[in-house]
Amino acid sequence: MSVAKPLPHDAAHLHVTGAARYVDDTPVPASALHLAFGVSDVAKGQITSMNLDAVRAAPEVVAVLVADDLPFANDVSPSAHDEPLLSDGSVHYVGQPLFLVVAGTHLAARHAARLGKVEIAEETPVLTIDEALAADTRFEDGPRIYARGDAAMAMGGAKHRLTGSFEIGGQEHFYLEGQAALVLPGEDGDMHVISSTQHPTEIQHKVADAIGKPMHAVRVETRRMGGGFGGKESQGNALAVACAVAARLTGRPCKMRYDRDDDMIITGKRHDFRIDYDVGFDDMGCITALDVRQYTRCGWAMDLSLPVADRAMLHADNAYWLPHIRIESHRLRTNTQSATAFRGFGGPQGMLGMERIVDHVAGHLGLDPLAVRVANFYASGGGISGQKKQTTPYGQEVDDFIGDVVVARVRDTSDYDARRAAVAEWNAASPVLKRGIALTPVKFGISFTLTHLNQAGALVHVYADGSIHLSHGGTEMGQGLFQKVAQVAASRFGVPLEMVKITATDTAKVPNTSATAASSGSDLNGMAVKAACDTIRDRMAEHLAQLHQVRPDEVVFDNGRVRAGSGDYSFAEVATLVYSARISLSATGFYKTPDIKWDRIKGQGRPFFYFAYGAAVTEVVIDSLTGENRILRTDILHDAGASLNPALDIGQVEGGYVQGVGWLTTEELVWDGKGRLRTHAPSTYKIPACGDRPDIFNVALWEGENRADTIYKSKAVGEPPLMLGISAFLALSDAVAACGPHYPDLQAPATAEAVLKSVHTARGDV
Ligand code: MTE
Ligand code: MOS
Repeated sequence: MSVAKPLPHDAAHLHVTGAARYVDDTPVPASALHLAFGVSDVAKGQITSMNLDAVRAAPEVVAVLVADDLPFANDVSPSAHDEPLLSDGSVHYVGQPLFLVVAGTHLAARHAARLGKVEIAEETPVLTIDEALAADTRFEDGPRIYARGDAAMAMGGAKHRLTGSFEIGGQEHFYLEGQAALVLPGEDGDMHVISSTQHPTEIQHKVADAIGKPMHAVRVETRRMGGGFGGKESQGNALAVACAVAARLTGRPCKMRYDRDDDMIITGKRHDFRIDYDVGFDDMGCITALDVRQYTRCGWAMDLSLPVADRAMLHADNAYWLPHIRIESHRLRTNTQSATAFRGFGGPQGMLGMERIVDHVAGHLGLDPLAVRVANFYASGGGISGQKKQTTPYGQEVDDFIGDVVVARVRDTSDYDARRAAVAEWNAASPVLKRGIALTPVKFGISFTLTHLNQAGALVHVYADGSIHLSHGGTEMGQGLFQKVAQVAASRFGVPLEMVKITATDTAKVPNTSATAASSGSDLNGMAVKAACDTIRDRMAEHLAQLHQVRPDEVVFDNGRVRAGSGDYSFAEVATLVYSARISLSATGFYKTPDIKWDRIKGQGRPFFYFAYGAAVTEVVIDSLTGENRILRTDILHDAGASLNPALDIGQVEGGYVQGVGWLTTEELVWDGKGRLRTHAPSTYKIPACGDRPDIFNVALWEGENRADTIYKSKAVGEPPLMLGISAFLALSDAVAACGPHYPDLQAPATAEAVLKSVHTARGDV
């Protein structure tokens, strides 16, 4: 059976030879035009005049469009219709598209876009969390609050209390392939859109609205992305819509791709947060009361900020049972890029807040933070529903908790206790270099919190030669979804994987899809594909059962053969036979996640079908004179259930961890006082490179199947490993703690500067 085999990514040979086709590699007709936006260099204000004569007169420029030239909807928002493609007169951030240049070449369009003379009456922008709080600029009337028990009362009775304030930086997606779209106009106003998107159906919907056509007039195709990481859930809308509008106007194919600087300046990033907390606890570090305020900087438009902030609240507990907890979430509107989905979707920020609180409690009591973690875990084992230590603050039973056993195992395999002692000993003898170690758990909820998104469709054809054509609503962004789902299809038919053709995601084949997001790609599409395959297989079995006078369930599909009584056929022979009998060899499949319901206003219900778990131990060394640091060793144990493909899943775990470490160490976004992003290229924004990975990197998958009824009992794996990177952050904090008697109060990202600053805090220097 193909499922569970550690097969390479289906396109690995194409990726490494450069033969994999991305949007920009798609051959375009000679008549194609190229697009670029003219963007605002002011963070807030009203446009008083736009003189675009020089733009129009620039070489190779075919057309220049402003908001008034748009024939239908001027809207690329995925949520509140508050995001015009081109400014409607007011300006909300530096980088906001104001006008659109259509030219003969990409460079000509970019050059011309610089020539616009736009006068803007500047207003004072709201840039920071403090400014947004002072101005009370928000996306909801007031803060959202989820609570359980009585945090204020329990705080009053707590033996120990601490307060803290913790800044968490955002993160640029830095997908290697930037945002890109190509639109080929068809007859009668139809549009064929080729887009680098995690959400083809949304592109279809937005393009249809922009050209005043029903969705059936727009077909969106996505073969692959060169990385998405959440940054292509909604941020591709603008490019696809711009191309469609320009294609409608000119009748010519239109293509748009952002250069790296434009991509970083125009598009949204991970939300930065400030988390303020009051925590009450006993001598053992058991947390008896917790009051958390999450301040979320959402940027100028709503985008996906509400569900992102919700998910941060839903992960404010991480793996811990908190009897009295109050979580307050502020969704703040600022004059910066509209923050968007990024791997973990708010979960990482919520979880990091909790881990930092645990770390602070341990620091205060002089305990190993791991002891405090263990003291606060949810009850193990599951099964006994309704037990008090199993219920989340939002009322879902954690009936599958394995966080404690996962942690115990990696504690053992990584030799944590001995190494913690060795680190202390080493530090005692080392005045300048200090080591630190941390073990942190991950518990991540799987399902879209917007319940209706938890559905998927598939379309499977078996051709008369037995070859299989597979399509489903998921998109491929490097995570290996297509290969995993192809393994499911091959397993259902009992054929070798080579017989399954992986095809591009296409809204004309599978309609009304959800974004490939929330790590749910293989859970949802795997099940939909299984359903489609089983429909066809059942028809085949029925036919053979009649021929051979056996029951349909006695027909066996295995190893490329099909056996029914005395009959023994190749799969291809069966396909021909069934076709000749005039039986359909094509089927759709559909799946919806069972058993979930969620009231996001009340903060109550069962938003998640199940949880994915993991734990990581990271050891680091810092230079206490400069703050420079390195990861020495990482040990990870991650729960992917019964893995559909352990090779791909380990790749997701390694990549997720490194991306999480990048977020919390070197990746720093800096805006100046005028709201200009100063870190908009790899020269100033430092993502991890090969040399930054841990010298020793031991990654293993937990051996155990999903208790929930998922595709072959596997678990979603796309996002959860990012949060294993929290162990690196807290290992740095641990190393800094060795420099002095005070709690280091390290802020994220822990750049060398931040580490150095926190060394001074630990020492009590002013
Ligand atoms: N892995 C790679 N290589 N590239 C990506 O863009 N995106 C991540 C994760 N892993 C991503 C990735 C994000 S944000 C999500 S939600 C999941 O993959 C989506 O895919 P899945 O649902 O199939 O896991
Ligand atoms: Mo992933 S942030 O859900 O695209």
